[in-house]
Amino acid sequence: MRELSELFAQNRIWAERLRTESPDLFRELAQRQAPGYLWIGCSDSRVPANHIVGLLPGEMFVHRNVANLVCPQDLNCQTAIEFAVDALKVRHIIVCGHYGCGGVQAVLRGTSLGLLSRWLEPVEGVRRQHAEQLAHLGDETRRLDRLCELNVIEQVAQVCAAACVQGAWDRSQALTVHGWIYALSDGLLRDLGVCVAGATELEAAYRTAVTARPPGGTGPEVTGGVADCAASGADR
Ligand code: CO
Repeated sequence: MRELSELFAQNRIWAERLRTESPDLFRELAQRQAPGYLWIGCSDSRVPANHIVGLLPGEMFVHRNVANLVCPQDLNCQTAIEFAVDALKVRHIIVCGHYGCGGVQAVLRGTSLGLLSRWLEPVEGVRRQHAEQLAHLGDETRRLDRLCELNVIEQVAQVCAAACVQGAWDRSQALTVHGWIYALSDGLLRDLGVCVAGATELEAAYRTAVTARPPGGTGPEVTGGVADCAASGADR
């Protein structure tokens, strides 16, 4: 089993299917990529970025880490954002968390996970920052749901603070940052209502998302996400 032959077999089937559906796809992708989106999501195996939103290879630039964190000092994440914004000129950055995130749960429960505990320190910061709101929620499941949501909202703010994102907005480059959350239980996305298309929009969007939304994953599903944002005039 050293060769993982079943994965190679599945790869051949996958490539053949794509070639049948789009005969030119791989030839074109070998020349260039021009994705419209940057996805920043959790590494969780149950949240496969392209599959969830039905996108083909070449359509979405993806960065994933445990608990979908965006930290100023994380060269990996920051360079992915910079490359997506400055070189690929993506029009949308989507921070997508998920309910039942093990990393967020570990923080909520105070579970020690070795090196991962250090990685998750920003989530502990989010928990502390919103401790009062979380304390008012009844059971642990609702607190976990809400902390997963709040974590996404905070990471959206971190994306907006990135120098390359600020720079893009300064030169009127079309770029919108979105905060979504995915439910493992039904496979559907929810829009957290924090949609930012310019430096001046963050504060109001952040405040609304943090204070106004009913906690616990009861919000509306994304019915077009990006299109919804465009309808509100944010997609310039
Ligand atoms: Co997760």
